[in-house]
Amino acid sequence: MRVLGIETSCDETAAAIIERTENDQGDISSRILSNVVLSQIAEHEPYGGVVPEIAARAHVTALDSLIAKALDDADMEIADVDAIAATAGPGLIGGLIVGLMTAKAIAFAAGKPFYAINHLEGHALTARLTNGLAFPYLLLLVSGGHTQVILVHDLGNYQRLGTTIDDALGEAFDKTAKLLGLPYPGGPAVEQAARNGNAARFDLPRPLKGEARLDFSFSGLKTAVRQTATALVPLTDQDVADICASFQAAVADTLNDRVKRSLQKFLETYPEKNNPALVVAGGVAANKVLRQGLEQLCVQHGFSFIAPPHILCTDNAAMIAWAGAEHAARKAPDKLDFAPRSRWPLDSSAAPLIGSGRRGAKA
Ligand code: KG4
Ligand code: ZN
Repeated sequence: MRVLGIETSCDETAAAIIERTENDQGDISSRILSNVVLSQIAEHEPYGGVVPEIAARAHVTALDSLIAKALDDADMEIADVDAIAATAGPGLIGGLIVGLMTAKAIAFAAGKPFYAINHLEGHALTARLTNGLAFPYLLLLVSGGHTQVILVHDLGNYQRLGTTIDDALGEAFDKTAKLLGLPYPGGPAVEQAARNGNAARFDLPRPLKGEARLDFSFSGLKTAVRQTATALVPLTDQDVADICASFQAAVADTLNDRVKRSLQKFLETYPEKNNPALVVAGGVAANKVLRQGLEQLCVQHGFSFIAPPHILCTDNAAMIAWAGAEHAARKAPDKLDFAPRSRWPLDSSAAPLIGSGRRGAKA
């Protein structure tokens, strides 16, 4: 099964082709035949964040040639593809419309099955693409728009254990960077500055630490950063570095406390599971300090720690093509009137939490 995937839900325009095979025992194997991603960071940088209208226009401009390049890199034509998959949500509606309409048009013209994919499901299934990981497993998704722990029971069966009750973690990094005068996107800039900083200088809050619920909260931490910075104005480079290091230490500590409870919940749910695994995905998963903390936590609790390569952790179309292939192996195609959904929770039974993630859109 070879699937063309299209991703346009936020500020990356992407197209990819993957191949999925499954033997009689249910073992899966995969190949990424092409994976093209065009980031719009430069277009949005002057505004310090993603501008939906600019994003949608940039997708229109780039998408056709990116699809052509994905086919070219894989040395294929549309006729060689078995199905077309596109992100149908959640995300910015203008971008979703561009990708979805393009995918439907190709599917219709070429007579290929079409699959509408939930972007979060793309992230959730990536560890199967990269590591052939068997269900069930635990996923920590930490991006600019989402901070969620998801129990991936099976294909199409996702249980949200915890989510942020206010800011997404990437958003907290971006806002911290902005108020300290660091460039956009803020995560890499904060991590870089923190390398020269003293993490013990400021005692910042660890929101929800010790609480039984499995959710996250970061807005109190962001406010504390603002108060700390305001009290020191004008800031020296050392002040900025120390605030970044203290912020990152507080995030690492909070994240480990929250995720630890989800590891325990997983073991209660699947006490017989051999070699349980925690998978991380999303742009924030690139952060080395956070990764090290999570890796240690996993070792302590007998979990494998799986972090797909950075290019497959951040937004890409290979994960959308892969999710399409997983669906194609199990169910009939979606109809061509499938509407884009700016909000589309993976776990429809989980109560929506007010303010959980930026615009509830970016994933
Ligand atoms: O998954 P992603 O590329 O895009 C979406 O949000 O959909 O994630 C981007 C987020 C941004 O908020 C960015 O600041 C954050 O990931 N990020 C990081 C790092 N690299 C990217 N946060 C912390 N440390 C990093 N090294
Ligand atoms: Zn994403």
